[in-house]
Amino acid sequence: MSLIKACLFDLDGVIVDTAKYHYQAWRQLANELGFDLTLEQNEQLKGISRMESLDIILAIGGVELSEEEKVRRATEKNVRYLELCMQMTPEDTLPGVRAFLDELKHRSVKVGLGSASKNAKVILERIDMLSYFETIVDGNRITRGKPDPQVFLLGAEDLNTPPANCAVFEDAVAGIQSAIAAGMLAVGIGEKSVLAEADIVVPGFVGFHFSDLGD
Ligand code: BG6
Ligand code: MG
Repeated sequence: MSLIKACLFDLDGVIVDTAKYHYQAWRQLANELGFDLTLEQNEQLKGISRMESLDIILAIGGVELSEEEKVRRATEKNVRYLELCMQMTPEDTLPGVRAFLDELKHRSVKVGLGSASKNAKVILERIDMLSYFETIVDGNRITRGKPDPQVFLLGAEDLNTPPANCAVFEDAVAGIQSAIAAGMLAVGIGEKSVLAEADIVVPGFVGFHFSDLGD
């Protein structure tokens, strides 16, 4: 019998590759303000809320904006981001994700989403994945972003599962820190060198099985 009774998934970069659209939309905002945003700088924004991301980007460019202007720019970025996301189809679900979620269902392991994104439901609908999740904790529900554990603790509560019996799947450093702070098994999706704090790191879900989480 496995210790793990529930799995909580981040969305962007774990279920679907939306990071490229976030990057494109943020880069356009930076360009409009007279500077560029590199892919490396974009790494820092993974798992970070929209308004916090904007603050990081403005600091990179050395630009100061009024609160009103920040809200306007962030809204514009989001409209652009969603336009790009509308190109997605169910085919854009990352390889191996559906098979792994089907395996969890088959094993009666509970499944929830823990994302900083306020667009989580729209995106899950777009890729036809909404029905896989028993609970969705998204950017509209949380008051403290990753690396705070709130997002995953709320997910565990919704699924009536103690944190020690939950596994979290995350592609962002802030997300791994959030999972660890919540007392959950942290599974990094990506590179070991970046996600060094995770308990397990895999490049993706292809060939990954529930038994790989350990006993
Ligand atoms: C996270 C992404 O999942 O959601 C971040 O990794 C993003 O890049 C954050 O900023 C908030 O997303 P949204 O969709 O509410 O702007
Ligand atoms: Mg992510």
